[in-house]
Amino acid sequence: MIEQVINDFPILKQEIRGKRLAYLDSGATAQKPRQVIDAISNFYLADNSNVHRGVHALSERSTALYEGVRKKTADFINAKSSKEIVFVKSTTEAINLVAQSYLKPLLNKGDEILISEMAHHANIVPWQLIAKEKGAELKVIPVLDCGELDIDKAHALMTDRTKLLAITHVSNVLGTINPVKELVDMAHAKSIPVLIDGAQAVLHQKVDVQDLDCEFYAFSSHKMYGPTGVGVLFGKYEILDSMTPYQGGGDMIMQVSWDKTEFQAPPTRFEAGTPNIAGVIGLGAAIEYINDLGIDSIYQYEQELLTYATEKLKTIPGLRIIGEANHKAAVVSFVLDGIHPHDIATILDVEGIAVRAGHHCAMPLMERFKVPATVRASMACYNSKEDIDQLVAGIKKVIEIFS
Ligand code: ALA
Repeated sequence: MIEQVINDFPILKQEIRGKRLAYLDSGATAQKPRQVIDAISNFYLADNSNVHRGVHALSERSTALYEGVRKKTADFINAKSSKEIVFVKSTTEAINLVAQSYLKPLLNKGDEILISEMAHHANIVPWQLIAKEKGAELKVIPVLDCGELDIDKAHALMTDRTKLLAITHVSNVLGTINPVKELVDMAHAKSIPVLIDGAQAVLHQKVDVQDLDCEFYAFSSHKMYGPTGVGVLFGKYEILDSMTPYQGGGDMIMQVSWDKTEFQAPPTRFEAGTPNIAGVIGLGAAIEYINDLGIDSIYQYEQELLTYATEKLKTIPGLRIIGEANHKAAVVSFVLDGIHPHDIATILDVEGIAVRAGHHCAMPLMERFKVPATVRASMACYNSKEDIDQLVAGIKKVIEIFS
């Protein structure tokens, strides 16, 4: 895999402070292959125009490209129709859309929204906001010591008051791949609709929304080798069609008068204003890139890296991995006895190693594991065992400095 892809990512060939760059922060954002960068610049060089607004050639071309990516995105996650794909700016915006346009109007005092202890803030705060406004309550599925969800508790927490299950597909901190299909089935048995936060899942493994049967699935372009500023909300069409938009503006209307506004059908109804057209074109190129490599080959390759990284890291005295679920994506969080994660990451940076240190937008999870922060190494298709070896050598240097 690595020989095949490394030349597509020129950014990775640079040195940082005279050291080879080992980029292990793809969980924060993945690097972009030349194919994605070229697609964006070619769009601006040859096709740029607004979408859905003009009859001139450039506008028609831009519209065709933009709508073509919608179809490509639908196929990528096996949605029934491209009408089920809403382009937004991020996973965060996708979840806020569901909170404001879908759940808030249905929510009454005493209702419950079920989330999990490993949720990213993007899958906590939007629910907290509407729960507070409507007098509803957030219920939280606990995480076990190994980093897996407590499925029995999840089952017990699904009640006739539960109005939505909003669940993380892959934890950005622990790497845990949750049994989302099982959770959807469990929720549906109690007539509870499900939103899946797939931000950390789509770059690592095949996602099939028809097989999952979830009502909503949210993810971001920038985590899957595409540009920043584009997110995707998948929603079952009949549900999207029942929802009122929470943002108004151009393009999402059929008719506007001083008395009232008639909205477009989904997905346009939820895309007020000029969208990030070039970003969507870039997402299309990222999907093609993943498809060309084969998501199953990416998964296999990353699993080898994960096993190698886990084994190597475990040999370091004083290092504790946070999150050892059986089923994990290529993400390893760890702490070192007596050394703050920010100090670790700062020294690793001097060694050319890019990792993330902090709470990873998952403060309740840090509290759960009684750590202020962790260091996280997150991998993608362009990483190699050499990156892991560099990380391990860097950590040994950190320990030496602090001893
Ligand atoms: N959610 C991103 C991360 O986990 C930013 O780093």
